This record gives sequence, structure tokens and C-alpha cells, in this order.
Amino acid sequence: KPQIFSGVQPTGNLHLGNYLGALRKFVALQDKMDCIYCVVDMHSITAQLVHEDLKGQTRAITAAYLAAGIDPEKHIVFNQSAVPQHAELAWIFNCVARIGWMNRMTQFKDKAGKDRENASLGLLAYPSLMAADILVYRATHVPVGDDQKQHLELTRDIAMKFNLDFEKKIRAAGTGIDITVGDQPVHAFFPMVEPLIEGPAPRVMSLKDGTKKMSKSDPSDLSRINLTDDAETVARKIRKAKTDPDALPSEVEGLKGRPEADNLVGIFAALADRTKADVLSEFGGQQFSQFKPALADLAVTVLSPITAEMRRLHADPGHIDAVLKDGGERAGAIAQKTMKDVHEIVGLL
Ligand code: TYM
Repeated sequence: KPQIFSGVQPTGNLHLGNYLGALRKFVALQDKMDCIYCVVDMHSITAQLVHEDLKGQTRAITAAYLAAGIDPEKHIVFNQSAVPQHAELAWIFNCVARIGWMNRMTQFKDKAGKDRENASLGLLAYPSLMAADILVYRATHVPVGDDQKQHLELTRDIAMKFNLDFEKKIRAAGTGIDITVGDQPVHAFFPMVEPLIEGPAPRVMSLKDGTKKMSKSDPSDLSRINLTDDAETVARKIRKAKTDPDALPSEVEGLKGRPEADNLVGIFAALADRTKADVLSEFGGQQFSQFKPALADLAVTVLSPITAEMRRLHADPGHIDAVLKDGGERAGAIAQKTMKDVHEIVGLL
């Protein structure tokens, strides 16, 4: 049975990239599948240990989940640290994964910078905890932005190695299922997760530089649209977004080599649930001076109800905490069952 899992770190403001790459997909999947959406607070202390208000940030992401339209009664919304089985499985995965695998992660290289010896051990092991987040629910599908692709490949590598290393024990425990990976038959305890990355905006780029990812850490606030920005700010940032001097092409092919144009058309398409081709069939031949106001209107129409609802929820932390508590209990029940099987397979008495 397909099971969705995904997570967002409670660090800094959520931006349009997080919304289009993650939250909007989370919402869309709810009608079709069982979903578990997590605020990964333990991941937040890997790059920076001390936070001004980590609890407040965790509540803010939870508010964004709810404001975007996630239903915490039909699905599960919780924070990672409420279910200690994530950390427990991550420890076992630390013993499955190889140091070399972790060293190759581009996010680790980016975040650790030049002084790698001085990065926290947690930052190196980050992907192991991420694999545990997903696999402690034996989730099969993970909606994320394009930047998480490599981490999900590593999740598959960890699952595969665990399944192969423990194949006999998994059979003996009677908790596995027969799957094929490529054309190799495997008796698996953990599924091979599938990333859900597709769509017109899998990687939303900076509004100031179409070759750089929109990110929380960009020093220029004009580079991103925050989910907390008011309508006027959203419109101003789109007006000021970098573009080239040409008119929009009438076909997707024409966006090649025009990263800023490609980004804005992708954002429009994602916000409108349309394809880029469809957007260009309407706006092809028009100047940015015509396209940008249409984009700003659309962005404000989609985002301002979410921003307003986030504010309303912010004023009611009691409600947020109740949602997280309930979600944590339901998630914990699933995670406990998986860990009981894992103890049996690994031989932990
Ligand atoms: P995080 O918190 O950095 O980002 C949350 C989600 O937003 C997506 N995203 C983007 N998508 C498109 N364009 C962008 N510019 C952009 N920036 C961010 C991310 O891809 C992500 O989907 N490691 C994860 C958190 C995590 C997780 C997990 C995710 C921990 N455990 C298990 C899935 C499953 C992260 O740091 O995301």
C-alpha cells in the first residue's frame, strides 16, 4: 500500500520554493494516499546547534502545513523529536551506511564548506536520519524539491543494503516481502522509496539570479518570496525580479538558455496548476512588463489566504500543540511497530 512521507526543517522562513517544491504537493497528495508530514526539528540542529526559538519555528512550520491545506485529522502532522524511533533507526542506519556515501553528499559539502573537519558529526550523518524518517514508516513515496534527490537515492542505498545484509534474518522474522529491484529479486523489509519531484517547478530559482536556487540563506530578501510576505511585498519582488530584455517565447524550447524567464514561467505554471507549454501558449510574444503583473496577481491570489491563515494560527499556539501531540502519538504507534521488527531482525534483545 503506498504511503507518503515528507518533512520540512524548522529553520528560517518558508519561501515559494518550499511551497511549490513541497507543501503544494503535500496538499495535492492527500486525496489519493495516506500521508505523514513531519517538522524535522532534529535536522535543524545539525548545521546550527543553538537556535533563538526552535519551538516557535516548529510551530510556524506546522501552521504553514495547516494553512496550506493539510488535514491533520485525515493524515498525520507531527514533529520529529516527538517520536524517538527516528533517532533510534538512524543509529542503526549509521551502521549500515558507509562514511564514503555521506562524504559524497553535495548538501554536506555545501553546508560544511571548506572546514569539513569542523562540521558537526550530525551534519555528516544527516542523510541517515532522513532515511530513518522515511523508512520508520516504511513509506514508499516522498514528495520533495529537486535538491533532495541525492538524499533519496541514498535512502534507497541504505534500504537496499539493510535488506541484503539481513535477508536471512528478514525471512526468519517473517516480516519481509518479495520485490524486484532492477531485475534482482530481493526479500525486503524496507521498500525502495520513489521520489515525487516532477511538475513545472521542481527547483525554484532565486528571483535575482536564475542559476541559483531560491533559498532561506540567500542574504538578499529580494531573491525569494516568503510565505509571510504581504501582498504588496510579493508584487514588488516580482516587479523587481531579474529578467532578460526579450519577449516570452511561444514554446518551451525557447526558454533554453534563459534561466530567469524559465523560472518565472515555471512559477506561474506551478501556481496555476498548468504546464509551462500551456502558459506560453497564452503569454508567448508578450513582454515581461505584461507577464509580471499577471504573475504577481496570481501569486498574491494563491499565497495571501495562506499567509493570513498562518497569522491566525500563530495566535493560537495551543491548537498547534494539540495537533502535534495527536500526530506524534499516531506516528509513534506506527514507528514502534517497525522498530519492534527491526529489533528482531538485527538481534537486539
Ligand atoms: P528543507 O527544509 O530544506 O526544504 C523543505 C522542502 O522544500 C523543498 N525546497 C525547494 N523546492 C523547490 N525549489 C526550491 N528552491 C526549494 N528549496 C527547498 C525541498 O526540496 C524540501 O522538499 N532534508 C530535507 C528535510 C527532510 C526530509 C526528510 C524530506 C528531513 N527528512 C524526509 C523528505 C523526507 C530538507 O532539508 O528540506
